Amino acid sequence: MTAHTDEWKRAAAARAVEFVTSGTAIGLGTGSTVRPLLDLLAERLGDGRLTRVVAVPTSEDTGRRCRELGIPLTTLDETPELAIAIDGADEVGPPPRLDLIKGGGGALLREKLVALAARRFIVVADETKLVRRLGTRAALPVEVVPFGWRRLVPFFEELGAEPRLRRQPDGAPCVTDNGHYLVDCRFPRGIADPAALARALARRTGVVEDGLFLRLARLAVVAGPRGVRLLRR
Ligand code: A5P
Repeated sequence: MTAHTDEWKRAAAARAVEFVTSGTAIGLGTGSTVRPLLDLLAERLGDGRLTRVVAVPTSEDTGRRCRELGIPLTTLDETPELAIAIDGADEVGPPPRLDLIKGGGGALLREKLVALAARRFIVVADETKLVRRLGTRAALPVEVVPFGWRRLVPFFEELGAEPRLRRQPDGAPCVTDNGHYLVDCRFPRGIADPAALARALARRTGVVEDGLFLRLARLAVVAGPRGVRLLRR
């Protein structure tokens, strides 16, 4: 990550926080683009520009950070309908679809649940995340049940992927907040038909969820050298 992308992430977060209004329940994503958003949100709650906002965090990490910053939390069970959710992405496909790949930070399952619960799902990104075809920049993370996960490898390969279990630096598998493993599926020529791939993955026992967020984002707040752009669906 360069100093530039850090700056762009902050710029996207600063524009996105303006979509949060007082008296609403919101979803808060995970990752380095959402981090500055949490700081800005806390600032607005602290100085009274925003009041009565409660948030559902999409990961233990975001929940922890919210608690440190004093952002009031709720759960999806207590608050099943959210006004908006704001989250980052590993790839943002072209408008009008604004399809996404998410899950680089490992939080894709809760992120998708929260995105689906929101009336408006807003993605924040720096412009290095923009792609013409999904899968050309990032691998597709797939959350899987640890029991028998190796049996999924040939299945992923048949779908055209080069699958790799996500591991920690010491070699142990990464375990998600939900107790699952992650298999990062690289598609050497990108993903030709994301909807068909999502359907195939959803049908397979042992696959919990995939990082394809298709037609979920209504708005992308994208920052780059020429400032912040809003891409709409
Ligand atoms: C977390 O699981 C991901 O979906 C993140 O939203 C995504 O990886 C973007 O993260 P950054 O904002 O850190 O690039």
